[in-house]
Amino acid sequence: MTRPNEVSASVSWKSPSNLAIVKYWGKQGYQEPLNPSISFSLDKSFTQTTITTKPSDDGGFTFLLDGQKKENFDSKIEQFLNKARPFFPFLKNHHLVIESHNSFPHSSGIASSASAMSALAQCLVSLHQLSQGKSLNNIDKIMVSGVARLGSGSACRSVYGGWSLWGKTPAIANSSNMYAIALENNIHPVFHTLQDTILLVDPTPKKVSSSQGHQLMENHPYRKARIKQANENTEKLLQILASGNVHSFLNLAENEALSLHGLMMSSTPSYTLLHPNTISLMAIIQEKRQKEGWPVGFSLDAGPNIHLLHPASHQQLIVEWIDKDLKAFCHQGNIIYDNLGQGPELIKI
Ligand code: PMV
Repeated sequence: MTRPNEVSASVSWKSPSNLAIVKYWGKQGYQEPLNPSISFSLDKSFTQTTITTKPSDDGGFTFLLDGQKKENFDSKIEQFLNKARPFFPFLKNHHLVIESHNSFPHSSGIASSASAMSALAQCLVSLHQLSQGKSLNNIDKIMVSGVARLGSGSACRSVYGGWSLWGKTPAIANSSNMYAIALENNIHPVFHTLQDTILLVDPTPKKVSSSQGHQLMENHPYRKARIKQANENTEKLLQILASGNVHSFLNLAENEALSLHGLMMSSTPSYTLLHPNTISLMAIIQEKRQKEGWPVGFSLDAGPNIHLLHPASHQQLIVEWIDKDLKAFCHQGNIIYDNLGQGPELIKI
């Protein structure tokens, strides 16, 4: 006899990482952001996750990364599933086999938690819909985003292709702290061609995690000023994205990246994740834009690696320049050529 919510199925989703231009830094409540953030989804940097359900009263899971058990991830997944349980009655009477694969190396300066948690959330919402006898033609993206947020804040923006916004802002009527929304309108075509070339300066794991960094915002002396700055930058970026002004975009991206690292440097305890080569690269990139007018700039995630941003139009010239002037600053010459992507993809049911 089939029990309520029973679903014997296997679903696979491919979900991208994303790069924030206006940065989320600091939390309130449970995984709600201190300020709005705006990001775009990447194309080549993704996690592919398959969840296979088996009816069982243990309500547990087995996690495999690249076919291997990775026990150090188990507690993070367990914490996430425990937060998600109230939304997914089927979890109670199934065992999940979760198999994941990342398209990019670990500690490569790409947010793997964003792609991993958004892929997991896509699978869970799909299984939930199947357990309720609904088709997967219409995935409830707001639900996926809200659930992904429980695993990692930035993951809630990875559930869409192109640009997305997370966090309440008066500039966008349906914005929310609980989930991200897609920014589909008012994006100039040039910002759909954005390239993100990741210059891997230092692949060693970060000495201070993003979770610790978020926590340090609680008593941060610049907390109020940061919230104001991020809100203003959100409104400015929305206007810039609509206008197509690439130079204003790059100036704002750099201002946000440096502000994020400035907040780390002025936390108590203070720390920096920047590497001497990060500083050298930032100076070379800014000079190229300011002195020669090239449409190139940088962003940084919570790490030393440079995200070189530019529209597709100058691609050939920029690739030659990277080889000649920038590659030498990268760890073993490591570079990932990524770009704005189309968002999560259902691989199989
Ligand atoms: O989602 P978390 O908790 O890993 O935080 C990510 C924070 C930044 O990547 C630094 C900024 C952002 O908005 O993605």
